[in-house]
Amino acid sequence: MEAAWDHKLYFPTRVVTKHSGDEVMVEGLREMFRAEKKYSSKYFEKIADLEDMMDHSNQYPVLTKLKEFMWDGMLSWLKAEGIQGEFGVQTHVFPNYGKKGAYVPAHNHQAQVSGVYYVDIPDVNEKQDLFVQEDTKRYWALDPGVLILHDPRGNASLAELSEKNYVKFFPRPGMGIIFPSYLWHSVTPHQSEKDRISIAFNFTIISKEERGMAVEPLKL
Ligand SMILES: [Fe+2]
Repeated sequence: MEAAWDHKLYFPTRVVTKHSGDEVMVEGLREMFRAEKKYSSKYFEKIADLEDMMDHSNQYPVLTKLKEFMWDGMLSWLKAEGIQGEFGVQTHVFPNYGKKGAYVPAHNHQAQVSGVYYVDIPDVNEKQDLFVQEDTKRYWALDPGVLILHDPRGNASLAELSEKNYVKFFPRPGMGIIFPSYLWHSVTPHQSEKDRISIAFNFTIISKEERGMAVEPLKL
């Protein structure tokens, strides 16, 4: 009998999600955004990722609770990837506050594992599937306020016959999503009068060996 072609599937990209199911935590975070007016200011949009929200965790203990939830997601991601060893982790937490029409262009993050927690999502349709991966036509269709994960295989969108070179994620308040930081992603504009609020996480994970490497100061 003629042998079949031997198939392998290399370079898949792990994306994990979980609903925190903790209404008290979500409400606590909303309360923080209502109190901290700077987060919703036009100016803050441009410097959001220079902020580390964990600096305010004494004032808002709900942030510590949120970090624990996202940390757990990060662990789940690392374990499933078979990562083992001793590491040091730097966690950077910053807000994304989107008013009507706001969008986030495609970008990635300088870290190893990244995540987003959704505090407020306007006009959620509970019947909508969480993830949509259809054809190219659906890629270009304007779905408001969705997170688009772009195919990390360079230029796959030009040549991938399956047309499966993106995933649209329709977030719900209270949900967290974790993915590798190199994964390019964008957020489409939402057209609701209500604000779209999420909190981004960057986990920079350094191996024990790397941690021991000397750092020389450099001022330019
Ligand atoms: Fe991002």
